[in-house]
Parts: sequence; structure tokens; C-alpha cells
Amino acid sequence: MAILPVVKFPHKVLKTKTAEVVSITAEEKKLVRDMIDTMYAEKGVGLAANQVGVSKRIFVASADHVRGGELVFFNPRITKKQGRIKEFEGCLSVPEFYEPVRRFKRVWLRAMTLEGRVVEVKAEGLLARIFQHEVDHLNGFLFIDRLGFVKSRLTRKKLSKRLSRKKT
Ligand code: NI
Repeated sequence: MAILPVVKFPHKVLKTKTAEVVSITAEEKKLVRDMIDTMYAEKGVGLAANQVGVSKRIFVASADHVRGGELVFFNPRITKKQGRIKEFEGCLSVPEFYEPVRRFKRVWLRAMTLEGRVVEVKAEGLLARIFQHEVDHLNGFLFIDRLGFVKSRLTRKKLSKRLSRKKT
């Protein structure tokens, strides 16, 4: 068991599009185990690989936070989306910051499982939100990039100020 440090905004790895996983080796399996440990330890409902500094297209999720029931996806893509809903969202890489974000109500996610099977999963509610949030991470976006142009800029300014205060 290893809990990895979570990379925080404005680290560059969070803004970088992650690389596709070509094959799932022992290295990826260990990374996924550590990501799951880290997600539970940090009380998150999802975690993308670049949030622990690894720029690979992998995320883990656990909407109900029950150990053993977590989802692991490689090379995920959202293939279909329906409806719109605005709800509060947060992120382990943007601590102590919550804002309402407009997302799709229902999404279909196509990805490879840990066993190397390609699956398509339909999600609603919190799980649909997690899928969109994590795929965004893997594409180099944070939820604060989804707040609309003006609010996004203000938020970045506010967060940068807060970070520089912490340094002094
Ligand atoms: Ni996040």
C-alpha cells in the first residue's frame, strides 16, 4: 500500500494531455493500486493518473466510497452524452474550493478494464459527473476551466493569490 502525493494546481502536469496506455504491465497495475489507496486516503471519489504526476490515460473512481468496488479505466473516452445539470464540484488538486459546474446528466464511457477488456459503461448522477471530471483531467483540464470565461479567470487569480500567500 502506498499513498502518493497529489499534485496541486497550477502544476503543469495537470494541464498536459496524458498519453494512451499501450499495454497494461506490472507497472500500470502497481500504479492503479497506489491510485486507489491514494483516492481513499484523500477521501476523493475519483483520481486521474496525472494527479499523482503520471501522464498516462488512466483513472480510478468510487462513487460510493466502498473499498473493493472501485472502477479502473484505461484510455477512457466519452462516446455519448445526454441532458444537462449544474451541481457543486471539487477536486483534490484544487483543495478547499467548490463551485457549481455544468455537466451532462448521463454519459457513456468507452474504456479498457484492468483485465484488458473494452467496455462501454452508462453512468448517471454522481458517477456521470466523476467520469466527465476525470476524462477532463486526462485531457489537461480542471473543473475550474469549466466555470465560464470570466469566472474561470477570476478563480485562477484567486487561487494563485492564495498559493502565493501560503508560500510566505
Ligand atoms: Ni479532480
